[in-house]
Formats: sequence, C-alpha cells, structure tokens
Amino acid sequence: MRLAVAAPAQVARGLPWPLTRISRAMPTVVFHKGGQTYTGVVQDNTNLVVRAGIRQFPFPHLRYECGMGKCAKCACRVLAGGEHLPPVNWKEKKQLGDRIDDGYRLVCQLWIGNDVELAQDAEG
Ligand code: FES
Repeated sequence: MRLAVAAPAQVARGLPWPLTRISRAMPTVVFHKGGQTYTGVVQDNTNLVVRAGIRQFPFPHLRYECGMGKCAKCACRVLAGGEHLPPVNWKEKKQLGDRIDDGYRLVCQLWIGNDVELAQDAEG
C-alpha cells in the first residue's frame, strides 16, 4: 500500500523543508581603549552603539552620544576586519574627514557581521 503525502506549502514555494533557520556565525568584537582590551561575542548584524545603549557589550567602555553620525564621539580606528565593513558613508566622510585615511569609522554607522577589532582614543 502506498501512502500519498501532501507536499507542504514551503516545498511548493521552493523553500527548504523542513524549514530551518540558516544561522551565521556570531562575530567576535575586540575593543581597545585606555590600555585595556575588552572582547565580546555579538549577534550577526549588530550595531555596537545600539548595544551600548541597552547596556550590553561594549558598554560601558564605548564612548558615543547621538547614535546618528552627527557627533563623532563614537569614532574608532579599525585595527582588523575592516574589509567586511560597509563602505564609508556620507556622514562618516563629513564627520571624520582625513581620519578615514587612518582607519577611523563611526561605530554608530556600522552593522557588524564579521569579526572586527576596534580601538577608541581615550579622549574624543
Ligand atoms: S554616536 Fe554620534 S556620530 Fe556616532
């Protein structure tokens, strides 16, 4: 006896079945400031200023203010992993100017999906 099994709607739409969430690796962030090094693992596609705002790593070490690319308080130098970051945007160009050539980025403008190493100057 042969049983007929109805195909789930996912298969009919060309989606994998059983539908599983495809997870990506969780990035490791190494953050240097004031001679100290802090390391944290974050969710994929994370903004560190948003995290700091809800008191998660790199809180309380990351300096920031506006969260919108207007103050440059969150400026950090990218020591490693910069090749995976999005291109410098117009807010970063406006706020950082020549500091971009030295590897500075506005952390509030970055959504992190890969390992990255950052350094923030003690004064900013
Ligand atoms: S927090 Fe103000 S520019 Fe990033």
